[in-house]
Amino acid sequence: MAIPQHTIDQILDRTDIVDLIGQRVKLKKSGRTYSGCCPFHQEKSPSFHVYRDKQYYHCFGCQANGNAIRFLMDIDSRNFIDVMKDLANQTGIELPKDNIDSKKLSYKREAVKAKAVAPSHNKKQANSSSSTAPKPDTNTQVIDPAPAFDVDPFEAFQNFPEFDDSAFGFDPEFNPGIQAPIEQDGNLYDLLENVAQYYEKQLPHSHVAQHYFRHRGLGAETIKYWRLGYAPEDWQHLEKAFPQDIEGLKLLGLIRTSDSGRDFDLLRERVIFPIRDAKGRVVGFGGRALNDEIKPKYINSPDSEVFHKNQLLYGLYEGRKLKAQNWLMVEGYMDVIALQQAGIPGAVATLGTASNADHLSTLFKQNNQITIAFDGDAAGQKAARRTLDIALPLLNDGRELKFFIMPKEHDPDSLVRKEGLETFNRLWQQAPLLSDFIFALLSQQYEVTTPEGKSQVMAELNQLTDLLPKHGSYRYLIRQFFKEKLGFNKKWQPQVNLDASLSFNIRTKDEDFAVAMLMHHPYLYIHFEVLRALMPADELLAQILAKFDSIYDDLPDDQELATYYVLGACSAYHLELSEIMQRTNIQVLTQAPEMADKLASECSLSLQEKFLRQKLKKPSSLSESRYLRQQLNELTKKIGLKLINE
Ligand code: UTP
Ligand code: MN
Repeated sequence: MAIPQHTIDQILDRTDIVDLIGQRVKLKKSGRTYSGCCPFHQEKSPSFHVYRDKQYYHCFGCQANGNAIRFLMDIDSRNFIDVMKDLANQTGIELPKDNIDSKKLSYKREAVKAKAVAPSHNKKQANSSSSTAPKPDTNTQVIDPAPAFDVDPFEAFQNFPEFDDSAFGFDPEFNPGIQAPIEQDGNLYDLLENVAQYYEKQLPHSHVAQHYFRHRGLGAETIKYWRLGYAPEDWQHLEKAFPQDIEGLKLLGLIRTSDSGRDFDLLRERVIFPIRDAKGRVVGFGGRALNDEIKPKYINSPDSEVFHKNQLLYGLYEGRKLKAQNWLMVEGYMDVIALQQAGIPGAVATLGTASNADHLSTLFKQNNQITIAFDGDAAGQKAARRTLDIALPLLNDGRELKFFIMPKEHDPDSLVRKEGLETFNRLWQQAPLLSDFIFALLSQQYEVTTPEGKSQVMAELNQLTDLLPKHGSYRYLIRQFFKEKLGFNKKWQPQVNLDASLSFNIRTKDEDFAVAMLMHHPYLYIHFEVLRALMPADELLAQILAKFDSIYDDLPDDQELATYYVLGACSAYHLELSEIMQRTNIQVLTQAPEMADKLASECSLSLQEKFLRQKLKKPSSLSESRYLRQQLNELTKKIGLKLINE
């Protein structure tokens, strides 16, 4: 049984790892983590830690680690499916049943009378998945002529339990060898692939459709790459081309039935955009009218067993195939295609619906930094505001969101076509980060020079930042940033030497830079916490981190108070600390919250690498050495990816 990732995620969301492990291991809360004696190896002092915010456990003694599923698999030596069944029961989330799933994908193909076209699929093809979908004939309307049988039709007949022999008008036992028209199941993916090929084939027959694409600037290669096609005028072209597949076409919503009971095609006299899922299978179609007078401008095939618009992004499959690095959410099919043709492969669009959290999460899996494009008009502004509410809860783990507002009268398609790739990229680069975007948005709305306006801005900001993930520095940093911008906090300035070099990375040790950042922005601790398990306990940074671990939960929300709180807790080190703060310039941190977050995360990564390498020189066991090496591998990948994305 294959369990889809979204079901696994759902089950994990509803399982709390601290409760789950707490049933097997005596856990004690210490700071932000829970610890106890590791159930996977013998020990007297606890080195087994469970992190509620990360839903993750780690033993610093034997290096056992993982999520709730891994824990249950390892502690009871059970397999994945077994554990998932258990967790599904506990959380009340249903696992998919394989046989039901495959049944949903099939439909009954109609028998065709002996003199008509013979069955177009043999048994094997009909049951296969889309990747083996048959190629249609290249030059006729009957796109799927009978292939030679590679199964005995009689055998097929015997295998068919609900067979009604009167439908065939002959006695198969009497003459089992003739090419009998048989009923069999069709597969929706295969059917969609065939229909896509059919639409593609119609394009060369229509001058208007070809002219339409040419007029919109698309070259032959682009048309072929996106498999663009044309649905002819005829009200029943699909019925004629796929006489056996009416039931399947109705399941897909491509054939509709009128009130008077007549079947007709959903998409007629429109250019066709086939929509592929993340695996590249055609799952639906968008059809655009050939001129702007015809309403509606776009018709999309409806949701079906294989087509779920809320979870799909047009262009995702293609962008991944083209190894896109920078991802941009746009509004329409034409934007995606025009950008790809111009040399920007990472544009994706929703399918005529507003973007939701699933769409954004999917994009964040491609890259930690994503951009959303909005039209420059009032509708675009509204959409941007709506998107904020959806996007904010997703902004953890160093994720970054940019807002690319189009110049007036442009959408991405027209901008890149009329102004060129260079201009497009320049404007994209200049697009504001979330913090600046929110500031611009709110300062348009309120009079930020008056005390009343300022307090309104802060109130609205607090509402927005409440949507940010609870465990993270971002929520705090962005409030700080606003206070600075609005001119609060003036009396308190970080005590830094303004003459010190800006190039702290050369002049200042990473460890000292980390300490300085922690003193000014205590909430950045979440980036450095991982170092505790890696670094020698006698280093100053390690000792400061240990202090943070015990006070983090009690930190005041206000920056000034938080810093004093930390200074108090670390008073034993005040000489070392003031020396570090004297010579470290962290002015750069106050420019933008994203900057502070990014610098902290980069600094932490480079320190992790350093300490991992140190540890690797003297591993305590073979298994530790293997584990460290694997850690280091993953880390270098992460660092490498960051460099590429710069
Ligand atoms: P827009 O109307 O903003 O137009 O639709 P566009 O993408 O710029 O279209 P062109 O350039 O005139 O061809 C954006 C998206 O909204 C959906 C489609 O998915 C479209 O790509 N849409 C639009 C519909 O589903 N139905 C409509 O009637 C219009
Ligand atoms: Mn457009």
